[in-house]
This record gives sequence, structure tokens and C-alpha cells, in this order.
Amino acid sequence: MCGIFGYIGPNNVVETTIKGLKKLEYRGYDSSGIAGIHDGKMLYNKQVGKISKMEAEVEQEGLELDIAIAQTRWATHGSPSRENAHPHFNNGQTLALVHNGIIENHSALRDMLLKKGVVFHSETDTEVIVHLISDLYRGDLLKAVMAALPLLKGSYALALIHRDYPDQIIGVSHESPLAVGIGIGEMFLASDLHAFTGSAREVIFLDSGEVAVVKKDGYEIYDSMMSPVSKESRELIGKAEEVTRGKFEHYTLKEIFEQPQALRSALSARCIDEYGTAKFDSLDIEMSELLGVKRIIILACGTSYYAGFIGEYMLEEIARIPTQVEISSEYRYKNPIIPNGTLVIAISQSGETADTLAAFRELKAKGATVIAICNVHDSSIAREADSCLYLRAGIEIGVCSTKAFTSQVAVISLFTLLLARMRHLSRDDGQVFLDQLKKVPDHVDAVLQQADAIQALAKKYAQCENFFYLGRRYMYPGAMEGALKLKEIAYINANGYPAGEMKHGPIALINQDCPTVALTGDQYTYEKILSNLMEVKARQGPVIAIAEEGSEGIEEIADDIIWIPSTRDEFSVIPATVACQLFAYYVALERGTEIDQPRNLAKSVTVE
Ligand code: M6R
Repeated sequence: MCGIFGYIGPNNVVETTIKGLKKLEYRGYDSSGIAGIHDGKMLYNKQVGKISKMEAEVEQEGLELDIAIAQTRWATHGSPSRENAHPHFNNGQTLALVHNGIIENHSALRDMLLKKGVVFHSETDTEVIVHLISDLYRGDLLKAVMAALPLLKGSYALALIHRDYPDQIIGVSHESPLAVGIGIGEMFLASDLHAFTGSAREVIFLDSGEVAVVKKDGYEIYDSMMSPVSKESRELIGKAEEVTRGKFEHYTLKEIFEQPQALRSALSARCIDEYGTAKFDSLDIEMSELLGVKRIIILACGTSYYAGFIGEYMLEEIARIPTQVEISSEYRYKNPIIPNGTLVIAISQSGETADTLAAFRELKAKGATVIAICNVHDSSIAREADSCLYLRAGIEIGVCSTKAFTSQVAVISLFTLLLARMRHLSRDDGQVFLDQLKKVPDHVDAVLQQADAIQALAKKYAQCENFFYLGRRYMYPGAMEGALKLKEIAYINANGYPAGEMKHGPIALINQDCPTVALTGDQYTYEKILSNLMEVKARQGPVIAIAEEGSEGIEEIADDIIWIPSTRDEFSVIPATVACQLFAYYVALERGTEIDQPRNLAKSVTVE
């Protein structure tokens, strides 16, 4: 989850490195550090908190470096502290190293190194790597690195420098991405492409097990046997996308408001109105194979899992293909049976989620075809899948996913339509489906126009410490997503539940201080959820309904209502979750929590 960055080149090394590192701050932001070599000395600065704190310190002390590596941390082993912040050093402070990932056998390695007299300064798993390399160093740094790697168990992307080699950075990738950025007379290393925005012109992705030796004017790449590997660099497409908050107080709010546009772009040029179907230019799978799909497994985590859950309902109901959505972190440790005709869909905004990547690699190895649904171009999942259906939502900076979620649902809807039309769904029904889907951006607009009213509602309930979010069918994953938003940014305990399950236990928690947000837009189960809400009311629980215009009977039950436009059950979850996003945002604002970078979280979850 941490972000790592390295720079060697003619520009101001400290400034360039910190600028690049800041673009990775979404990966973790509890501490940061930079180390480099200047006039033969190893110099560094580490701070707890955001990168800007380290930047201010570095500026004040006038740090100058000729080469640098840096890291922004999301703590795994050891609390966020200066000692645990990266870079870590060997005892002589000749070698500095930054790491993203986890070293699973760090305890055994630490014991072994302690016996050799090594002194440790942190609680991190990372520190063992730097001491191990140092212990194996006999004057040839690459050889020492190569000798250390087979002793490490786990996932790691590393960047390291040594005082004896003041003109080179070594980068290592092992089940954790690392890219080499190529400029003119300058080179970069970063744990993701995004850090190169506005700097490198070309990029090379290291494959797992590869090691790069990067110098100002060139690079060499080696495989795990230390044999040179020749790799083609790729041009970095797209202009530097400098994203700002514009008139919005937070990126999260800006991204919530970008949803009509993001949805339009997800649908753009993918709808074939005449035939009531969909197409994806990037879908590189034979139609005959798609026709032969007998079963679908959707893999995802967090918000993407909830989008996948909606996909499960849709693919079964509309395309009539047995579908199962799975939480990647659990699925990766199953030994599933993958019969012929199984299609895997991996959903991930970042395309770097370690659990999803591991689960889908396993299924790929078992012979399944994998389609990715990702937002980030050239991310690991997008690159490794057989095809990638991009969200086109634009970069999502807020750690709490908003526009990516609704775009994921839109892309899954189109994919469902494509599969359904290849089977039994009539052209007329396909056209109705498309027609309704294309109206969703306007429905979202209608919800956004109620932002002031939703803010007032958020103020009314902001002091409550427990919430339920209820829904049925399509609204059940919507309820879980709504609850997740409130947890993530307002730090409030919120449980997303299928409304029918309340009576089986959770209803014991209902009282006048525990509001229920009810997503009632699923018309097929509308009467049923009304009864469930009556049961909540009977126990003095306040009810905030997110209901479709024209819904009858809800006004008699709910204390407050957010009205959303009426649409098909499959799509109603989109405006409903947008209402939940706004509600969570304004509750968080009222409570004064950190919204764009909530505590303990990271945007890209690259560790298990
Ligand atoms: O990048 P991914 O979509 O694979 O990320 C999965 C989850 O980590 C992510 O959705 C997380 O739950 C978000 N912070 C939710 O807002």
C-alpha cells in the first residue's frame, strides 16, 4: 500500500522526488521519508504524518541530494513513527532502502541477523531486507541484492541506494509492481505509473522477479538468475493530468459531483441502440467464447465487491448466467473447481489490489479467461487480464471510492446486456434496457441538485454513533456500499444489511438513537421492505428513506425522505448510492473528520 519513488537526473533531486512521491500519497500517508547521497554522504529525513510535513522540514534544513529514494507509508509492521518510517538503513548507514509489500518471514530473518550482531532500529519487516543485503555485500551491490532475494518470503517492490554506487538506484519487483520511468538524461522508479505524470516519457514495467539497475542515462534489467533481460519501453500516453479540487472543498465532493459526466463517458460509444446491445472496443475475446460462457465468477474487494454484487444479480437475472461474486481475500485461499466455460471478471478501481490480483492469477492459471473492469490504465490487473473494460471515470483521488463505483455498475450493466443479447434477450427488451441506462446520468444529476437538503439531513443525524443501512435485492449491495461510505469518512459504525435479515438478530440493536437508512428503490421487493421498516419503527428506530418518486406508503413510515427518480430496479441503486455518498460526506463534514484521506486507509491496497 505504500508508495515508493526514486530519482536520478539533472533536476533538483529533492524537489523532483517529493513531487513524485506526493502523487503516490493516496497509497498511504501515515509517515514519509527520503534518503539520498550528496558529496559521498548518505543524508535523509523522515517524518510522521503527511508528506507536506517532511517537505517543510527538508526545505528548512536545505537538504541537497544527487540521487534519492523516498517512501510514503501505510503502516503494517509497527506504528506510524519516525523510527518505522522508510527509508531504512544498514548499521553503517551506507545502504538505504524503501519497500512496498510485506516480508512474511521477517521474524526468522531478524533472529538470524540479531545473532550476527546487527542492531535494529525499527519494528518493521522492511528493516531485515536492508541488513540482509548489507550482510551479503562484498563490494558488488547487485550480487548482494540477488543473493538476498531468494531468502525473502512475501511480496515486495524495493528501491535502494548505496554510498559506494552514488550514480545508481536498484529497483526490485516481486509480486508488487514497480515501474522504471525514462526521461531525457533522467530516470525514475515508482510503485505506480501515476507518479510519472508530467515527468517520464516512457515506462517499463518490471515483471515479478526482475531487478533494474537505473542510472542517469540508462538502465539494465536482470531476471532472478542475474541474466540480462531485454524489455521494450512503452510511451506514456496522455498529457500530464494535474488534478485540482476546483471550487470543491474536497476531492471526494468533486468526484461525487463528477458522476453524471463519468457515467456518460462509461457509456459513450459502447451502446448500439439499433440492436439494443453493447460493444467494447477493448474486449479482445472471441464472440464464440462469450457465447460459451456457462458460469461467471466476479472477484473484487470493498466498494468494487459491492459493484460486483450488483453484477451478480444482473448477470443471473438478465443474462441468465449462473454468477457468483467473491471477496478476493477469501477466494484466493479456496481451491475452486473451474469447469470449462468459466469466465472471471476482476473488478478494481486501482487495478493494483493485491488480493484481487492474487485470486485472479490463480484462476488464470487454472485456465479461466479473465476480464478486468478497471479505472487505472496499465495497472497490474488491467495488464494481466485477457481484456480490460475501462471505466473512463478519470482519476479518483479521494480514498473513498465514489465515481468509480457508479461507473463500475454502468460498465457491468453494459456487459450484462451484451451477454444477454447474445442469448435470449430480445432486441426490444435490449433497447428498453439501454434507453433506461442512458438516463441514469440525469437521475444522478437530480440527486446532486438536492445536495443542500441532504446536508441539512446529515446535520440532523450527525451525532448518532450507530446506523443501519437496509436494502433488498439490488438495494442490498447498495446498502452495504452506503454503510461503507459512512464508516470510511465519518468514522461511524454503520451496518449494511439485507432488510429481511433484521428480524434474525440485528433488530435487537434498534432504538431511538440508531437511525436506519433504507434504500427502498427496488420495486420488486418494495412492499417487503416497507414491512421491515415498520418493524424498525415499532422499536422507535428513526428511518431515513431513499425512495423513488411516486413510491406509496413510505411517507407514513419514514422520518425523512430523499427522493430519487424512478427507474428500473437494476439502475435505481446508482442514484440511491449517490444519495448515500452525499449523506456520508456531509455527516463527515459536520463531524470534522479527514475526508479525502481518512485515517488508517489507503487508496490502493497492495498488501494482503
Ligand atoms: O482499487 P480497488 O477497487 O480494487 O479497491 C478495493 C477496495 O480497497 C476499495 O474499494 C475500498 O473499499 C474503498 N476505499 C472504498 O471506498
